[in-house]
Amino acid sequence: MFAVLVLGVCSLKGGVGKTSVTLGLASAALEHGLRTLVIDLDPQGDATMALGARAAGDGDVAAVLDAPSAETVAAATVLSSWADDGLDVLAGSERSALHDRLDDEDVDRLRFALSWVSGYDLVLVDCPPSLGGLTRTGLTACDRAVVVTEPGLFAVMAVGRAMRTIDELRRGPAPQLQPLGIAVNRVRARSVEQAFRLEELRTLYGPLVLSPFVPERAALQQAQGAAQPVHAWPGAAAAELATTFEGLLERALRAPKR
Ligand SMILES: Nc1ncnc2c1ncn2[C@@H]1O[C@H](COP(=O)(O)OP(=O)(O)OP(=O)(O)O)[C@@H](O)[C@H]1O
Ligand SMILES: [Mg+2]
Repeated sequence: MFAVLVLGVCSLKGGVGKTSVTLGLASAALEHGLRTLVIDLDPQGDATMALGARAAGDGDVAAVLDAPSAETVAAATVLSSWADDGLDVLAGSERSALHDRLDDEDVDRLRFALSWVSGYDLVLVDCPPSLGGLTRTGLTACDRAVVVTEPGLFAVMAVGRAMRTIDELRRGPAPQLQPLGIAVNRVRARSVEQAFRLEELRTLYGPLVLSPFVPERAALQQAQGAAQPVHAWPGAAAAELATTFEGLLERALRAPKR
């Protein structure tokens, strides 16, 4: 039977690594031959750019949210330049910001649009840096959500708010939604402050703290800047990142699928 996992990547805080985790998971999925769709819900369109994808004409995620249909979904779905086959992008758009309002009519639109999405093993939803309407719409379409954080004070505090939002959606429009866990990004081996925050995360969230942690490595930015998957980037640091994202993907795939 065909089974797909729809996984949202979110955080309240900006710049903690949502897009980097999304791209890392997409790279690992490509390496493992999983047919993957990345939905770029962020009006900044970072994932679309790093995946070497470009919206064709008016087809983009904003058009899908305006009017979810087989046609708008097909028009918004473009190939990533990372591979000839197996990795598609539902292209991001500045106009999706118009959907970042907290009105319940909108919240089901992406889930509805997913009924015209088929042929994938994995759907990744890269959310914008807020828990506003777009993120809620994105997570409502998901089976599992990863909350991304850095091991710093403000980011750790923001995890609690993201977890509460997931819980609130689960008790409302998205009963299928479960937190997969917390992905910890930009980890440095010898930081005393980070070690303290990591301990705090483990105390607060126990097994929801996902391993492995994602180390801080310039290779990640280099691969993104070149619109390449980290698995194709040379050097030991890129190989370490590749292994890390494979570990996180494996963890995500253990979640039950629909
Ligand atoms: N582990 C890492 N090592 C080095 N650089 C990183 C790492 N993770 C993220 N970065 C860099 O930090 C910046 C922010 O990361 P990213 O865009 O993934 O965050 P984001 O949470 O998606 O941001 P936004 O909230 O704007 O969507 C990017 O330039 C990215 O390349
Ligand atoms: Mg981002």
